[in-house]
Amino acid sequence: MTSQNQTPAETPLPEGENQPLGERVTNRSQPPRSAAFKEFIGSQWAPRSEQLPARAEVAEAAARRRAAISAKFPGERLVIPAGPLKVRSNDVDYRFRPHSAFAHLTGLGVDHEPDAVLVMEPLAEPAADGSGHEATLYFRPLAGRDTDQFYSDPRYGEFWVGPQPTLEEIHAEYGIATADLSELEVAVTKNAGNRALGGVQVRLVREVDLNVDALVDTSRYNTGVDLEQADTQDAALTEALSELRLIKDEVEVANLRRAIAATVTGFENIIRALPAAKAHRRGERVVETAFFSAARTEGNDVGYETIAACGNNATVLHWIRNDGTVRDGELMLVDAGVEDDTLYTADITRTFPVDGTYTPVQKRIYDAVLTASEAAFAAAKPGNRFRDVHAAAMRSLAESLDSWGLLPVSVEEAVSDEGGQHRRWMPHGTSHHLGLDVHDCAQAKRELYIDGIIEEGMVFTIEPGLYFKEDDLAVPEEYRGIGVRLEDDVLITADGAQNLTAALPRTTEEIEAWMAELAG
Ligand code: GLY
Ligand code: MN
Ligand code: MN
Repeated sequence: MTSQNQTPAETPLPEGENQPLGERVTNRSQPPRSAAFKEFIGSQWAPRSEQLPARAEVAEAAARRRAAISAKFPGERLVIPAGPLKVRSNDVDYRFRPHSAFAHLTGLGVDHEPDAVLVMEPLAEPAADGSGHEATLYFRPLAGRDTDQFYSDPRYGEFWVGPQPTLEEIHAEYGIATADLSELEVAVTKNAGNRALGGVQVRLVREVDLNVDALVDTSRYNTGVDLEQADTQDAALTEALSELRLIKDEVEVANLRRAIAATVTGFENIIRALPAAKAHRRGERVVETAFFSAARTEGNDVGYETIAACGNNATVLHWIRNDGTVRDGELMLVDAGVEDDTLYTADITRTFPVDGTYTPVQKRIYDAVLTASEAAFAAAKPGNRFRDVHAAAMRSLAESLDSWGLLPVSVEEAVSDEGGQHRRWMPHGTSHHLGLDVHDCAQAKRELYIDGIIEEGMVFTIEPGLYFKEDDLAVPEEYRGIGVRLEDDVLITADGAQNLTAALPRTTEEIEAWMAELAG
């Protein structure tokens, strides 16, 4: 990696032992600081294109999302940060990924925009489109070539991270008013306060950007707003933004379909990589990188760390170490999802035999999981409760376990509130909402999520599994060291669950044929 120098160009060169501690991190490089250098580096660049980008397809949908949240909080200032760059270690950052609520309300995707903040300012009179708020996006726009930032700022400078969008470009593309980040403080704090005293109530999505947390907190202290009440009100905004995503709009469904198609490609790449995986002492890493390679080469990322687990590792629910071997005769569980540049992610699991053929006991366990999945699919329809999907899968699994003589109680006792013995082999939930976050809508109220009614437009996973650890003495030896999960992503329509991930095979016969074809 290129050596960075974070010392502003006007800072005098540090000298020997008098150099302050904080500046010593910049010891390793010394850019020229002369006036001649500054003048020369700022000159002789081709003019920038003045052509503005076309309006993004997502702009109208994002405006509708903002109007929906506006209607819930009339007369209040809403502050939704994108979040800052996050330090990985020392002076190295992770790739930027905006907070999901910010991405949802703006339509901005990958890379956009570190430190940005969306402020929805209440209007005295509703706007022409009926919205009670005017949205403004505050961000750090492209710096001029005559600035130090142009060449010396490793986090934001064009020499280091490439050209950033201008205020005009983001405005043209997303249809949101834009302003320089330097204007944020006034925008957030002006006239902030107790509404009863004529001030503007401010609500914030907290813990996304600590600088903005401090800004809003400061304005409340200064205006005497009850801080406990502010806690509750801020939590209600976060909750409402999470609930706003429970029903996906058309743009979101299209984004999910794209992410899923890319994920299917990634799974196909895994099957082709199996010979290499078997030959390597860390074959699971070969599987993981086969998926990642398919994602990255298409310009995408993964929505969560890939689980590539062979044999007994598949019984570890979040096995992301992925450093085991890949062996003929064993099952390979892969749980992976591409996040495309709109930031929507797939979440798919397939469990397949490394050598292409399930053994009888592997097939028996797989078929029990498949049957549970089918029961869950049947329950995933409008009018049922979200929890019914899980209940259907659990009853089915309990029945299979009982038929194998593994349950110490009856099926009815196991699925009762006092039972749960079958959960020894399936301790996780069967479904979660899916979208911008792999576990989407996580701050929604219980009565709208787990106790909520299933509605058209919801997208969630169906992912039953059975996990028999190699040291589990409650199961026959032939079951030990086998983990199976089958995870699909479904869109709820009037007719029930549409399987968005149907391009990947589900039955053992289909999977064997798919593997044979890809291997051939
Ligand atoms: N990969 C995380 C999950 O399936 O929920
Ligand atoms: Mn999942
Ligand atoms: Mn998953």
